[in-house]
Amino acid sequence: MFNKRIRIKDLLASDKVNYEATVMGWVRTFRNNQFIALNDGSTNNNIQIVATLGEFDEALLKRLTTGACVKATGEVIPSLGKGQKVELKATTIEILGDSDAETFPMQPKKHSLEFLRENAHMRFRTNTFGSVFRVRHALAFAIHKFFNDKGFLYLHTPIITASDAEGAGEMFKVTALPLDGTAPKNDDGTINFKEDFFGRSTNLTVSGQLEGELAATAFSDIYTFGPTFRAENSNTTRHLAEFWMIEPEVAFNDLEDNANLAEEFIKYVIKHAMDNNKEDLEFLAQRLEDEEKQKPQTERSEFGLLEKLNFVVDNDFERLTYTEAIEILRESNHNKKKKFQYPITGWGMDLQSEHERYLVEKHFKKPVILMNYPKEIKAFYMRQNDDGKTVAAMDILAPGIGEIVGGSQREERMDKLTQRMEEMHIPAEELWWYLDTRKFGTCPHAGFGLGFERLVQFVTGMGNIRDVIPFPRYPKSAEF
Ligand code: 4AD
Ligand code: MG
Repeated sequence: MFNKRIRIKDLLASDKVNYEATVMGWVRTFRNNQFIALNDGSTNNNIQIVATLGEFDEALLKRLTTGACVKATGEVIPSLGKGQKVELKATTIEILGDSDAETFPMQPKKHSLEFLRENAHMRFRTNTFGSVFRVRHALAFAIHKFFNDKGFLYLHTPIITASDAEGAGEMFKVTALPLDGTAPKNDDGTINFKEDFFGRSTNLTVSGQLEGELAATAFSDIYTFGPTFRAENSNTTRHLAEFWMIEPEVAFNDLEDNANLAEEFIKYVIKHAMDNNKEDLEFLAQRLEDEEKQKPQTERSEFGLLEKLNFVVDNDFERLTYTEAIEILRESNHNKKKKFQYPITGWGMDLQSEHERYLVEKHFKKPVILMNYPKEIKAFYMRQNDDGKTVAAMDILAPGIGEIVGGSQREERMDKLTQRMEEMHIPAEELWWYLDTRKFGTCPHAGFGLGFERLVQFVTGMGNIRDVIPFPRYPKSAEF
């Protein structure tokens, strides 16, 4: 059987020696015409394969270039070299795929993250991206495990939809109509979407929440985990046009239950990664430390990556209201010395990421849950508080990231909901199905959305969100 191989991670984990094994992977380096460092992506550690001098064809040895795909069989023996317990003394070496040393982009040297982004099709073969994507996998697995163990139902919400869940209008259109000017038109010259594939105008979803609410009012506890799309022209280290979101929605929960669930959830998945991806996180921590050393002393973070993650898992998140946060920001020296790009103008203003980061990084030095925002700066579906000014919203802010979670208790009272929709010019006819949940057995419920890539960024310490998703989509970029 061709595929009878041992994973390099498993081979290296065992002390067992003097047995025959086959490994397959890609050459990282080939030294002294004798030592192959082979990697199969199961770990950043390479297996050293010894091609004893004189035992292999010169022609074959020449093809052992960085990037080549190799199958090697031999005896597992104790390693004399430092850093690994065992190595493989090859009896046969087969080149499965050649790699031209001159043109292979992943040379055995340090590449910039920008270069690797331009070569995202090959960057999986580096240690940094090996670790990032193994951690990403672990977090995705932990997310399903967390909700499954709690009895939640995993709901698949549609990717193509006619509604704008967030009411922010940042949607990509989906159409099958021709774009060469021949699309059917209405009398007023606008496109006639009745003639389009779905018989109406549609777009890629910005959030599965509204459909999630439908299911929560039947299954009680659901979550979604899928791709979402935002056509916002944000060229930042924290925005993608295509990102993955986890959205639990829970019947009978209020805002406090919602915050408790989010905090427990975040701690659980981070702990899972720490327990299961120790090696990768240690590698990423070292990487971050090296990167920090390039920065001026004052800009360096106090904590290492692992310390930061431990701290988050072990400590309560700080909870406060939007109103309290505005006070803290207004009174801060930072504001008084006019160091914010957007000065604190007062209650009602939307918080910019510099404000969020001030709260978590400078003031509280821990994750923060901000609650009860002014209704004017939040979505139509959030539950109105008795003060007539605020809604039962919550955002979770994380050090180095800013907003990582956005959620709320939902407005379950039909009259209040339709009134708010009217005020915000959201047509009730289009959301008749959403309003039906309030008509037939409405119930208190709450939910939130966690941006998966922001979580992966937080756990891996990667500075740019484009480096934690395999093939990032952002303004002017959709390569690969
Ligand atoms: O705050 P948002 O817009 O909330 C919602 O979409 C709600 N429907 C969620 C809910 O209550 N079910 O987005 C939720 C999270 C943000 O906190 C952020 O982590 C992430 O999604 N996010 C993005 N991540 C990457 N790139 C973007 N452009 C993002 N926009 C939001
Ligand atoms: Mg938000």
